[in-house]
Amino acid sequence: MQIQLENQQFASIHADALVTYIFDQDKKVDGLMGDIDSAMDGRLAALVASGEITGKALQTVLVHFPEGMDAKRLLIIGAGKVDKFATGDLRKIAGTALRYLKTRGVKKFVFLAREGERGTAAIQAVVEGLTVADFESNKYHTEKKKDQEIQSVLLAGFDGPQNLQEAIDHGRVVAESQNFARDLINEPSNRLTPRLLAAKAEAMAKEVGLGVEILDERKISELKMGALIGVAQGSVEPPRVIVLRYTPANLRPDAPVLGLVGKAVTFDTGGISIKPADRMELMKYDMGGGATMLGAMRAIAYLKPAISVIAVIPATENMPGGRAQKPGDVQVAMSGKTIEVINTDAEGRMVLADGVFYARKLGATHLIDAATLTGAIGVALANVHVGAFGTPRDYLDQFLDSAKATGEKMWPMPIDDEYREMIKSDIADIRNTGSGKGGGASTGAWFIKEFAEDTPWIHLDIASTCWVEEGRPWLAKGPTGVAIRSIVDFAMKL
Ligand code: BES
Ligand code: ZN
Ligand code: ZN
Repeated sequence: MQIQLENQQFASIHADALVTYIFDQDKKVDGLMGDIDSAMDGRLAALVASGEITGKALQTVLVHFPEGMDAKRLLIIGAGKVDKFATGDLRKIAGTALRYLKTRGVKKFVFLAREGERGTAAIQAVVEGLTVADFESNKYHTEKKKDQEIQSVLLAGFDGPQNLQEAIDHGRVVAESQNFARDLINEPSNRLTPRLLAAKAEAMAKEVGLGVEILDERKISELKMGALIGVAQGSVEPPRVIVLRYTPANLRPDAPVLGLVGKAVTFDTGGISIKPADRMELMKYDMGGGATMLGAMRAIAYLKPAISVIAVIPATENMPGGRAQKPGDVQVAMSGKTIEVINTDAEGRMVLADGVFYARKLGATHLIDAATLTGAIGVALANVHVGAFGTPRDYLDQFLDSAKATGEKMWPMPIDDEYREMIKSDIADIRNTGSGKGGGASTGAWFIKEFAEDTPWIHLDIASTCWVEEGRPWLAKGPTGVAIRSIVDFAMKL
């Protein structure tokens, strides 16, 4: 799909459709809407007056062969209340337009910005919305609907003085990196084992110019990553640790080193504490945290922040094979801490234990981890917010600012000392599940913090937001690629 700037007046642009958006109280059709209305001889105002166009968020009204313009269709999207409108809404509007038009034979359309929403942040959001909306999760359909493809989008009405093209490129890189991650998350586990994930990560790294090292099972045992090995030993597929490095050209000696650690369990059966069959197929997306970090690194390679970034992605299956770890087993993590395995299905925190510790060994001064860690986070936040934990608090707050700026909903979650009490073990340093009732997302976070120690650290529990079971007007069902935009924005600002 091509996305290009267009400088012509909207009325004379040839396209299959012209898209713009209208606010809830735009009863008095004015500004750009007034211009469209005049071109159409008052027919837009008539549609508003009749109540057909209300401006309610994401309402879609399609007008065929609109008078006074060269486009074959006019699509008006509701933008909701003007005082609540934020740049992020443009992402959804642009995405909704693309998904709506794609199924209606449109190949080329114009997205027309409204007065007041024409700067670089706006155009970047539109490009992101379009690119993310264009992803489908039907990769293995052998007969694809070939007529459903948008070939080109023209961005009109953006008259910002500065580098609009740069903002377009930035938006494209971030959104394509998000789609890169979604493609990985969508892969079934027979087509994405830890070894295959490592090969894909290596190929991506070479393509974009990142340093890459893949640790195989021998290296993993040499490093004594006992927590990761404990999880991996139940599978015949060997584990891998993917290490990617980005180093900027003119590195300040005192610059921070950001460590991105992602859980990549390519399939989580639960192990000996086996999961029920119902919906177990979804556990192919248990490598979503790892894919998130791969997507973020891809974008970072193009956008070139001023700091070094290291990604550490422990990849394994969690299987109940004959050599699998069992409840009650004690494992020694790379850091030397001992772990009592109460439930083999709490495997994500174990692989992160060694991942986080190794990232610090490699020099990370600041950490972010992402993981499909707990069902409990979905109980607390449904599929609306990512659960965001972190210490110290101002480090987490800085991250939440990036989430806000990139339109990703995240909610700060508690990590008080009381939750630490719940992972005390009689036999070992810590146990891998909480002993009390409830608080499962916070005890999971505390377990990881045991290995981050005092390094500034953020933990993103994306278990309920990494995958959506129902499509949305602006997003296909399946993998979402959530958190990549926030992480990239944060890396650019750190
Ligand atoms: N991968 C799961 C968490 C998960 C659940 C991800 C639902 C996506 C959707 C994780 O490894 C897990 O099984 N967690 C357990 C932890 C428990 C045993 C302490 C859980 O949440 O039930
Ligand atoms: Zn599990
Ligand atoms: Zn898991």
